[in-house]
Amino acid sequence: MRIRVILSALGMLLVTAVANADFQPDPHSFSQPDQVVIDHLMLDLEVDFDSQALTGSVTLRLVRNQPDAQQLVLDTRDLLIHSAEVRTEHDWVKTQYWLGEPQQGLGAPLTVELPATASQVRVRYSTQPQASGLQWLNPVQTAGKQYPFLFSQSQAIHARSWVPLQDTPQVRFTYAAKIRTAQGLKAVMSAENDPDDQDGDYQFRMPQAIPSYLMALAVGELRFQPMSERTGVYAEPSVLAAAAREFDDTEAMMDATEKRFGPYQWGRYDLLILPPSFPFGGMENPRLSFITPTVIAGDKSLVSLIAHELAHSWSGNLVTNATWADLWLNEGFTTYLEGRIVEDIYGKRRANMEAVLGYQSLLEEIRTTESSADTRLAIELDGRDPDDGFSDVAYEKGRWFLTWLEQQFGRERFDAWLQGYFQRHQFQSINTMGFLIDLRTHLLEPNPGVIGIHPVRMWIEGEGLPADHPVPGSDAFEPIDAFRQQWLAGNSGLDQLDSTKWSTQEWLYFLNNLPINIGAQRMAALDKAFDLTRTGNNEIAHSWLKLAIQNDYQPAYARLEQYLIKIGRRKLIVPLYEQLMKSETGAEFAQKTYALARAGYHPLAQSTIDEIVNQPAAE
Ligand code: BES
Ligand code: ZN
Repeated sequence: MRIRVILSALGMLLVTAVANADFQPDPHSFSQPDQVVIDHLMLDLEVDFDSQALTGSVTLRLVRNQPDAQQLVLDTRDLLIHSAEVRTEHDWVKTQYWLGEPQQGLGAPLTVELPATASQVRVRYSTQPQASGLQWLNPVQTAGKQYPFLFSQSQAIHARSWVPLQDTPQVRFTYAAKIRTAQGLKAVMSAENDPDDQDGDYQFRMPQAIPSYLMALAVGELRFQPMSERTGVYAEPSVLAAAAREFDDTEAMMDATEKRFGPYQWGRYDLLILPPSFPFGGMENPRLSFITPTVIAGDKSLVSLIAHELAHSWSGNLVTNATWADLWLNEGFTTYLEGRIVEDIYGKRRANMEAVLGYQSLLEEIRTTESSADTRLAIELDGRDPDDGFSDVAYEKGRWFLTWLEQQFGRERFDAWLQGYFQRHQFQSINTMGFLIDLRTHLLEPNPGVIGIHPVRMWIEGEGLPADHPVPGSDAFEPIDAFRQQWLAGNSGLDQLDSTKWSTQEWLYFLNNLPINIGAQRMAALDKAFDLTRTGNNEIAHSWLKLAIQNDYQPAYARLEQYLIKIGRRKLIVPLYEQLMKSETGAEFAQKTYALARAGYHPLAQSTIDEIVNQPAAE
């Protein structure tokens, strides 16, 4: 039984139960799950690096929500469809299908005719080189330089560019897959992987039901190293040992999360380290998170990313946002859990510092968001690309909302509710209304007199941050503020600073809070004292290079060029391109560098940066 909720003018939640199979319209999918859903999928694909194509078939097992449903509508994007068959009582037979007109940003619906007795559908197809959910890398773009590499990135609506399926987070299915590759390459998926298999012929099984955006595949020169009984790393040989060292707290993170929020439900948890063009920091593909190599800093200082992707095993993968308008239910909860994990494993001091940095970036995001309606938690996405909802608001405002709730009820009661929330909605999708009902029923009502529904609704429906939002503070940063002021006032020199004691977070706080125009001379002094242009930490490098652009500090431009060519992680490079585009000489540099870098970027990064770099310079 699903639940439908109406918010009355009085702000009361009126709850009515409606019949089963009540799917919420998803503006980003053509599929019609109220008619038919797929509950199991079998992939059979050949990976061809020469033609940059996956070719083969997908077989979809059907469950009819309408007994007389006559069509199955699938999402596709840039796929070449070769045939469609249905399984009737005895055999596979050809069936009619139509590929509709592509629609802006959504791809094209594939409608398959279903005879009354059809129980499965098989589609033979190939992907195209421009598939938005795949990146095909040449050997030079890998660590080993010998073998090509392929990886998928399906979230939000890119699974449809490599598998025809119902590409909405409201449909879940189990899957099995056969993947064939050339010798020397290993395929891995968001499924059970066999670490020893290396023969070019790979089989996978995913027994837990997942939404389409968690379908994932990667192929490359990959090896495995265990970190604990149930955690390990897949990476190219030259990266493997460093990655396993950097991330060897993963098991401790799992234990801590299980203790607080309930069992890990996915069997193993492994990490896959991708080449640096991976457009995200991480992606929570179940059983196998995909991770950027840019967080391997050598000192575990950027591993909150692992805490984040691991936390999605509860918030997101287990309890899933029903549509992309509710992304905050995935990312806000996960950012909250990430903070809790970091606190448990690395202590309050580090957790607080990271909280302050996150809070500062939220304030900046709110300040610079064009449409104030986009500073709401649940946003209006109809007619827009779901990528437009990807902002610090979903992550950090969501996190501060949950922190505020925690503060109102106390950690013990809040944690009990949160553990219950994961359990009550496991392997289901939920929207903001469903969340509100759960919160009211299981936290607000059992604890009368703490808070009413009104302030909760202000968090959910209001723009920006409510006036009484929690403000994180970190004692650790006070000496940094003091030193920064003294130095800028000319009262203390850089030699008085024992910066060897500064952690990555302290460096980020120091750099991010310098005035924009400190001038090339002060930049040179900082560089001389701390060798920042050559830092091996990619987050510190990012903050430093941004300052270098703001201050036209030329000695850093060679590093900037290398950085932009090597790294494709959007969060690290987009702000640098944006900053460059603010001046005429910067724009010239951006265009020149982008011409060299573009071919190495993921399609998603390409389209983001195309828009930034092709606009006329601001001056
Ligand atoms: N699930 C996201 C990545 C994502 C979100 C992809 C929306 C496509 C659409 C992943 O868990 C994530 O949040 N990654 C962050 C890491 C982080 C620690 C905030 C990233 O890539 O920067
Ligand atoms: Zn996330």
